[in-house]
Amino acid sequence: MKILVTGASGKLGSKIVESLAEKVPASYILAGVRDTQSERAAVFAGQGIEVRETDFDKKDTLVQAFQGIDRVFIVSTFGEAEASIRQQTNAVEAALEAGVAQIVYSSAPRADVSEFFLAGIHRVREEIIKASGISYVFVRNNWYVENELGTIQQSLNGAPWVTSAGMGQVGWVYRPDLAEATANVLIGKGHEHTAYELSGQNLTQQQFVDALNEVTGKDIPLLPVDDATYGEMLSGAGLPEDLVTMLVMTQQGIREGGLENAHSDLELLLGRKPTSVKEALQQLLS
Ligand SMILES: NC(=O)c1ccc[n+]([C@@H]2O[C@H](COP(=O)([O-])OP(=O)(O)OC[C@H]3O[C@@H](n4cnc5c(N)ncnc54)[C@H](OP(=O)(O)O)[C@@H]3O)[C@@H](O)[C@H]2O)c1
Repeated sequence: MKILVTGASGKLGSKIVESLAEKVPASYILAGVRDTQSERAAVFAGQGIEVRETDFDKKDTLVQAFQGIDRVFIVSTFGEAEASIRQQTNAVEAALEAGVAQIVYSSAPRADVSEFFLAGIHRVREEIIKASGISYVFVRNNWYVENELGTIQQSLNGAPWVTSAGMGQVGWVYRPDLAEATANVLIGKGHEHTAYELSGQNLTQQQFVDALNEVTGKDIPLLPVDDATYGEMLSGAGLPEDLVTMLVMTQQGIREGGLENAHSDLELLLGRKPTSVKEALQQLLS
């Protein structure tokens, strides 16, 4: 069995490779990266993990890299919609040309039906994979706890936890759990044509801050504001306008339930209880 992980230089991909290496021989694993001369690539090679170039903007690298591969993890890329669809098409066409048996793709919560602003592009990319006829598994990852590290740092420096997400809940997940669950899918059986929802316990912003306060022993206050005020505060702090727009849309989407998930397959895929937000914060802040 040969498993190739694209985006192996990234935070999720590298953890998937790490998790695979704990479960199967290094000869089963291939790390797909854009820069094969990087330090990260050298580390993989040193572990006996073959490194291949996988650039979604260069289809020939993908066709070459996917030769002899049984299962490929395609990482979602972030950026402009047209480019991202072209990249996904390149990856899927290359998988077909190379005869890859299964694609595992990192998607978004309820990507097939969700109105959350980031879900639409995942829906299109899932459809591209489905249309190929290749066996697929979608791991629909919820919001990383790690996404909050910047805000956590500001709060630890004295700022309140500013939010316009109201009572909206988020099924925050710890990225190493997602990597482990994905590794289990990549080496597992019986996952064909399945979309797994990988979410944690649904928490409000206040419940997240409560967990943070418990872990740090601080008393960080929550400051609820409306979207306009939230955006003004971010702009006032010097954030670029496109980032401000995205962060306001995130708060709005959370308020409207876009990251709440009534169902999760994370425990099933891990074979254990997922790491709670509190445990994740303990590990991240230790
Ligand atoms: N669920 C969430 O909360 C959440 C949060 C952030 C992002 N995401 C999504 O989940 C993905 C994985 O998360 P992450 O934390 O691992 O992000 P990350 O650390 O930014 O890693 C992204 C990976 O994608 C690779 N990549 C980007 N563009 C590429 C291209 N054109 N061709 C080939 N590889 C390319 C990067 O390679 P290089 O090292 O060469 O740049 C990197 O390895 C992200 O890309 C994003 O779509 C999800």
